[in-house]
Amino acid sequence: MADIGSDHGFLAVEAVRQRNCSVVASDIVAGPLSQTRAWAARRGVKIDLRQGDGLAVLRPGEVHTVVMAGMGGDTMAQILNRSGAALTTFPHWIFQPMTRPETLRECLCQRGLRVSREWVVEEEERFYVFLTAHWGSSIPDPRLRYHYPGLSYEQALRLGPKLLLNPALVVQRYFAQRLRRLETFAASLPQNLWRQNHQLQNDIRIWKQVMLCHSQFNE
Ligand SMILES: C[S@@+](CC[C@H](N)C(=O)[O-])C[C@H]1O[C@@H](n2cnc3c(N)ncnc32)[C@H](O)[C@@H]1O
Repeated sequence: MADIGSDHGFLAVEAVRQRNCSVVASDIVAGPLSQTRAWAARRGVKIDLRQGDGLAVLRPGEVHTVVMAGMGGDTMAQILNRSGAALTTFPHWIFQPMTRPETLRECLCQRGLRVSREWVVEEEERFYVFLTAHWGSSIPDPRLRYHYPGLSYEQALRLGPKLLLNPALVVQRYFAQRLRRLETFAASLPQNLWRQNHQLQNDIRIWKQVMLCHSQFNE
């Protein structure tokens, strides 16, 4: 596997220790790679370290799984968009975007990658979204239309089609936090700006509708 943006190298080291994987760890800057080198030596594991931008460090077909964790969804999308044809030679993808997962989901869809799993982990009141993706077009799940009438498939794709169909309480809490953040931002705007900000009003309306449908779906 390849861990792109490995920083401290914790994930890369655990992948070797727990899964006996052969791991390429890469980062765009040198400092984090020295940290990974030191951590791997301490744990007694061998990792192939490479410095470079995104997927440029990999040869076509070199790894089965590419992991990108801890970066923003925008950065991940930019890395995918900067990669050439080699992108399609890596079959399995794992992402953990810290911000803007919707930008990443849109990019995956445009590049022909289908989100196969999504889940949320909560730790100390912070939520972490994880996605796996494989090659293939996204086929709308008919349950989305049933449980979320009025929500277009494009909107569902942005919000997380697998999360929407996951009744877990942690997903509900995550959705509630997304809505709270938008509402807090809206409340901080002067009245005239709020009235003009149709995109924000629309996003809040959609999240409220989603929260309602998700809670019913949960019952
Ligand atoms: C916040 S750290 C995440 C570390 C680790 N993956 C995790 O999940 O804890 C993000 C790392 O991504 C690296 N990074 C940012 N843009 C990159 C790019 N285009 N290519 C490779 N690494 C990049 C940064 O240098 C930084 O070390």
